[in-house]
Amino acid sequence: MTSAKDFVSTFMIAISNCSLYSKEHEAFDDLAKKTLASIKALLKEKLEIMVLDNELIVNNAPLRDAGLHRINILKRFKRKGISRIDFLEGIALPEIKQFIIDMAAPGRDMRSYPHIKAGGVDVMTQEDTDGGSIQYRPADFSENVQSVFRSTSASGSLDVAGVEHVVVNMIAAMKKETNILKYLSPVRSFSEYTYTHAANVAVLSVFQAESLGINSDMLYDIGIAAILHDAGKLYISKKILEKKERLDEEEFNEIKKHPSFGALYLAKIEDITRLAPVVAFEHHLKYDLSGYPVLSDKNRKQHICSQIVAIADFFDALRSRRPYRESMEIKDILVIMRQGAGTDFNPLLLDNFISSIERTLSNS
Ligand SMILES: [Fe+2]
Ligand SMILES: [Fe+2]
Repeated sequence: MTSAKDFVSTFMIAISNCSLYSKEHEAFDDLAKKTLASIKALLKEKLEIMVLDNELIVNNAPLRDAGLHRINILKRFKRKGISRIDFLEGIALPEIKQFIIDMAAPGRDMRSYPHIKAGGVDVMTQEDTDGGSIQYRPADFSENVQSVFRSTSASGSLDVAGVEHVVVNMIAAMKKETNILKYLSPVRSFSEYTYTHAANVAVLSVFQAESLGINSDMLYDIGIAAILHDAGKLYISKKILEKKERLDEEEFNEIKKHPSFGALYLAKIEDITRLAPVVAFEHHLKYDLSGYPVLSDKNRKQHICSQIVAIADFFDALRSRRPYRESMEIKDILVIMRQGAGTDFNPLLLDNFISSIERTLSNS
């Protein structure tokens, strides 16, 4: 008898093997047939898989014993921006084949088929009760990052699924609005800076990456790494982080340790993208490696994703009001940034960033 666990395993094996074979290959055909058979065995009126609060629920019952397949399907749902799949009576082989291909392809949006309904996650948008149109609430990114950071400090371990969830929603919402500046949250108080900055740096990094044609898994990984770029500040004393006056040399040397602390912390977390420790380590390195940490290997190159996050980080830091200075006008920030082309920043990435922001300013 087919169990929900068997179905999840068969489905995930089909998805993960899909890219190995062409659509016409016998082996793919075989995996799709097995998936279809396991769906049909469980299907009464419909077979429903849902993700709720990081729980996988199959036909209203939580499924906890499917091991790695369970973890992988949860990840796959998040990456695809869906929270639910309904398989309906009448489902046929071509539909399930196409659906497996969609689930396996990194950048492909999920589509529904006559007998397969895939539900989108849209928690960052809300129905406008008057007109029925979808409206996005810009402050939510930083609010969502705040709740992820809170659950992290309460549990003592990083809420990886929460971070991924924020990024999935961020990317989905950003597709609906071209004015990137609308997604940046203002810092209303000092205590808000940490998560507001993390959210803004992620928005600005994803925005750059998308404009460079980066998509699929890499886009999510950049968003995740950007949210966590300053994770090492967890290890820096609050007294220094919250100091209202300018930092003295000793204090600044302490701050300079946060990239290494962040990289060490993130490197130990198994289920997070390997880009996260790299970006945490390199985001203050500067394009010409003149920043910090000081490296003995001068042949090393800053990873392109760290270069993207460094641009976002610098821009948001100057744009935000801090205890020791007011926020700066965007056009003044761009003037300062331009002076760092080739030294602080990758000149091509900087050029792309500045022209995108200028275009946005002139259209708004
Ligand atoms: Fe930093
Ligand atoms: Fe930062």
